[in-house]
Amino acid sequence: MIIPYALIQKKKRGEALASEEMRQFFKGYLDGTVADYQMSAFLMAVCFQGLNSEEVDQLTQIMMESGKRFDFSGAPKTPRVDKHSTGGVGDKLTLIIVPMVMAGGIQVPMICGRGLGHTGGTIDKLESIPGFRTDKSLREATEQVKRLGAVILGQTPELDPLDSRLYHLRDVTATVDCLPLIASSIMSKKIAEGIQGLVLDVKVGTGAFQKTLGEAQDLARELIRIGERFGVHTVALLTRMDEPLGESVGNRLEVLEAMEVLKGKSGVVRDLSLTLAGWMFYLGKKASSAEEGFQRAQKILDSGQAYSQWERLVSAQGGDLSQLLLAQFPSAQLSSEKRPVEVWRSPTDGFVESMNGEEIGIASIELGAGRRSLEDSIDPDAGLRILRHTGDKVSKGEPLVELYACDEKSVPKALARLTSAYRFSNVPPQTQPLILGVMDKDGIHPISGR
Ligand code: URA
Repeated sequence: MIIPYALIQKKKRGEALASEEMRQFFKGYLDGTVADYQMSAFLMAVCFQGLNSEEVDQLTQIMMESGKRFDFSGAPKTPRVDKHSTGGVGDKLTLIIVPMVMAGGIQVPMICGRGLGHTGGTIDKLESIPGFRTDKSLREATEQVKRLGAVILGQTPELDPLDSRLYHLRDVTATVDCLPLIASSIMSKKIAEGIQGLVLDVKVGTGAFQKTLGEAQDLARELIRIGERFGVHTVALLTRMDEPLGESVGNRLEVLEAMEVLKGKSGVVRDLSLTLAGWMFYLGKKASSAEEGFQRAQKILDSGQAYSQWERLVSAQGGDLSQLLLAQFPSAQLSSEKRPVEVWRSPTDGFVESMNGEEIGIASIELGAGRRSLEDSIDPDAGLRILRHTGDKVSKGEPLVELYACDEKSVPKALARLTSAYRFSNVPPQTQPLILGVMDKDGIHPISGR
């Protein structure tokens, strides 16, 4: 039997741990013989000393095996491919991509998270649809994937319970932002899904956790390495996240924007959704290239099939879209839209030079769209509508952002965040492409065309 103190000491000195001692240590944590304070000390030692590749693989495997996994044995051979975003502001792409690839014959057994820090989470967005259940049992979820083609679940006690416990502990011990812990945590859940392919959307910029291209590449490289090691063909798109993706930030507002895109709205949200779906078709062998996959996704979106799949998915998980529209617009019977509680206007003439995505994410949390602590509840209607983005010409007094909240007392703090988030200039700024590169196990490749 290992002595927890000795194992923590070993990691503190930067020594490598044997697979068996790691297994015993984490098993001890699950059965209560290793205490929270010992695990906290261990996690902090990992933050300073890191883990080597064997240790990361071992931790990924231990986490994955701590719970059940999706089991598709005996089911017809349909490709299963997932997408994972490392987190951003206004990122509603999953809600568009999943119905698109379902319609094209790819199955998606997706496990997602809630909002984290200044970023939003897919589970919070979906739960803003009245009745939507993200806590189906693994048996129900597997049955839904086989019958319908997809499920979107939150983390339940059945799936990867070790990650769930470690994540809560990391959240309160300042050990979240540690690359080997992040990579093993993400990949243990993805591998438990029983997928053959994974497309990562690794965000870079002020609204992402990885602020520089170098940090994003390091994370992408490790996620790809783990995926390939466990037999999941993994590619990563490095995408810019300096400003919110699209027009809305906030749970119900984002669901409504995703539905507009599913019904044909153009713009960056549509373009990036098609690109990521294109890669999913390629990994699922439904297209001979990502470009061909893009064309396939575009046809599906434009034909209305993706919107029909969205309606099927929502209804299979108990959601009621008619109630969503009533909830967002409570006076819908009178056909008048819900009004913003405040409009932030341009303080100057000129151009929007830059926007700080993290500040904008925090502004939406101030309004009630996210949690300040784990116990906080979310106001599903709260958030922002971004009317002007980087590069746009603006005139003094012109509306830039609409603010939505139940509690109007939250507005001044949100306005202060918006004021610090926007920078203006007299000349048009240089804009960067949305997609900065594609990575796979062979390295980074510049993106050609889209
Ligand atoms: N998302 C996860 O699932 N785990 C992390 O550690 C960070 C982000």
